[in-house]
Amino acid sequence: MSNAMKLCVSLDLPSAKENLELVQKIKDYDVWLKVGFRSYIRDGKKFLEDLKAINPNFKIFLDLKLYDIPNTMADAAQEIAQFGLVDMFNVHASAGRKAMKTVMDRIKDIPNKPLVLAVTALTSFDNEAFKAVYNEDIETKATKFAVDTYESGIDGVVCSAFESLDIKNNTSENFVTLCPGIRPFGEDAGDQERVADIPFSKENKVDFIVVGRPIYKAENPEFIVKRILENL
Ligand code: C5P
Repeated sequence: MSNAMKLCVSLDLPSAKENLELVQKIKDYDVWLKVGFRSYIRDGKKFLEDLKAINPNFKIFLDLKLYDIPNTMADAAQEIAQFGLVDMFNVHASAGRKAMKTVMDRIKDIPNKPLVLAVTALTSFDNEAFKAVYNEDIETKATKFAVDTYESGIDGVVCSAFESLDIKNNTSENFVTLCPGIRPFGEDAGDQERVADIPFSKENKVDFIVVGRPIYKAENPEFIVKRILENL
């Protein structure tokens, strides 16, 4: 993606009501909304419809990290794409090349098909725990996963801002990077180990910054969103 960096707001509040109240406050801004497991399991497709009803221009990132056998993943991807509500969703790269190719092949002719990203290594893993599952060092394997995803026709990856440039160098400038762990103006890191601010994300060619707590815990979320967008 060559155009300007985009803001994706993580809807991580504990109820649909609170998430919708937050979205109401930022309804006039050009942002993406990230809907995760918890919200989607609890509030389902109706929640996606409620978000689009607030502003049809909102873009929705459905963060369900699909992982299953290729045909089952493709079935799920097809259902998501056919909602006509989701602009981006993701899968696990460790499901393998065949699964990723099957997903991309299944949705290729669906009108307005969503962007598809892959998760390389979950950031909750330290090197030891990662090695116990994948038998390789996390950095080496994460780069291999990124190349796998690119060669499978996936549009981009979820990664740290610290890896964004390296991943683009190993794949393509146009390969999308979406990066959580962003503290736009150096806010409190919370439980994130390594955080990046806006200038760092820009230098590293990040396409999407994902921001949760610095927005939804702010006294005035609208002000923070406005300030972030002015700085992208
Ligand atoms: O509140 P904060 O800005 O830290 O939220 C970041 C969001 O990105 C959360 O929804 C979190 O689950 C998600 N995320 C992450 N690290 C990853 C993948 C997703 O922080 N590696």
